Amino acid sequence: QESNVPHEKGLDNSIKLLTEGYHYIPNRCRRFDSDIFTTHLLGQKVVCISGSEAAKVFYNEEIFRRKGAAPIRVQKTLFGQNGVQTMDNAEHKHRKQLFMSLMTAEHLDELRTITTEQWQYAIDKWVRKNRIIFFKETQEIMCRIACQWAGVPLWAKELKQRANDFGSMIDAFGAVGPRFQKGKRARKRAEKWIRTMIKQVRSGQVIADEHTALYAMSWRRNLNGKLMSRQMAAVELINILRPIVAIARYVTFGALALHLHPETRRKLQSNENDYSQMFVQEVRRFYPFGPFLGARVRKRFTWRNHDFKEGTLVLLDIYGPNHSSAIWESPNEFNPERFRDFQGSPFNFIPQGGGDYMGHRCAGEWVTVEVMKTSLNFLTNHVDYKVPRQNAKFSMIRMPTIPKSRFIIKNVRWN
Ligand code: HEM
Repeated sequence: QESNVPHEKGLDNSIKLLTEGYHYIPNRCRRFDSDIFTTHLLGQKVVCISGSEAAKVFYNEEIFRRKGAAPIRVQKTLFGQNGVQTMDNAEHKHRKQLFMSLMTAEHLDELRTITTEQWQYAIDKWVRKNRIIFFKETQEIMCRIACQWAGVPLWAKELKQRANDFGSMIDAFGAVGPRFQKGKRARKRAEKWIRTMIKQVRSGQVIADEHTALYAMSWRRNLNGKLMSRQMAAVELINILRPIVAIARYVTFGALALHLHPETRRKLQSNENDYSQMFVQEVRRFYPFGPFLGARVRKRFTWRNHDFKEGTLVLLDIYGPNHSSAIWESPNEFNPERFRDFQGSPFNFIPQGGGDYMGHRCAGEWVTVEVMKTSLNFLTNHVDYKVPRQNAKFSMIRMPTIPKSRFIIKNVRWN
């Protein structure tokens, strides 16, 4: 033991991670009364850190790298291999710029329009059905939005398969066994689909609009002047499509929050003081999605008296801070108004990562917020529905989590 930092005993504590889920890091930070502790996970020594100070350290690219941080099992399901998440230095900046170039004000406007249109189209179908499994249907809506915005042609008959595949990749990130295998198969199928599409764009069989992600990924050159390989272009295009489908989870949690806190519906409808912004921020704070992030020490350094040796895996808690009383008053209450005078920093509210956008922070945070706002505004202003009795509880152990019932609604009507 080379420092006075608390250490979790045990040869390997992976089982505890599996049995405590989102609470694994926060439980130990509370028990040790420390924002840092060391442990053994997945067969290696790991340092876990939490809080705004920790996030500042974690996002210092001089002392951390991402190469070799993400487990292969995560790359084979959620991320794809060798994509932007695992890059460093000039290559990362160059690749990240490709993602950020898609996030212009006009392009986000277009995304809002597409989102509204797709909800209109979906509700026309929902009113003819009795019972809607909200999460499942919303994943399909998000898949349509993702493909339309990215310029990816999608046949009606393949929609379910594609939406399910994106869903399975996301669902696999904290899974072992069948859920993991399903995610792996889903990624293989999706990569094959998108690789073929990139090939067709390059050969002129498919024409991609210039401002779309399909075009950008098809024609992007690496720093060495060569086109990205088809496989790499497919991985990165999927890094746009899949996370848009992931927004279905937040929209579902938003619908659940609307149901559990009926007073918020009226406030969303009148949208005074940009209430919808506060509401979606609170959904992203309150409901769990990503548990933690990983990086490896690039250059030896000391923090909190701990000697971080080169190559060590460090996990930054991103769930815990959202429910920490060091940052939030009554953190376990759902209260959108808390965002009215919240002093946000790039490190104290990080459900989608921290730091700045040319680092590894989520490229799609604005997309997420806009799609959530448009979707929840649409649902509150144009649609009525009933919520039957159901078990909408969500596990804190399953990662990623989702209400047990997938949130069921009935008697959907236009209003
Ligand atoms: C990275 C969460 C939606 C694109 C990330 C990271 C998190 C995250 C935690 C890692 C940050 C880090 O490593 O430091 C989420 C959640 C989403 C979401 C919870 C909504 C449900 C999106 C959307 C897009 C997107 C809609 C694109 C349209 C990306 C990309 C990265 C990323 C490209 C890699 C950035 C890099 O490594 O430089 N996201 N994200 N995400 N996200 Fe998202």
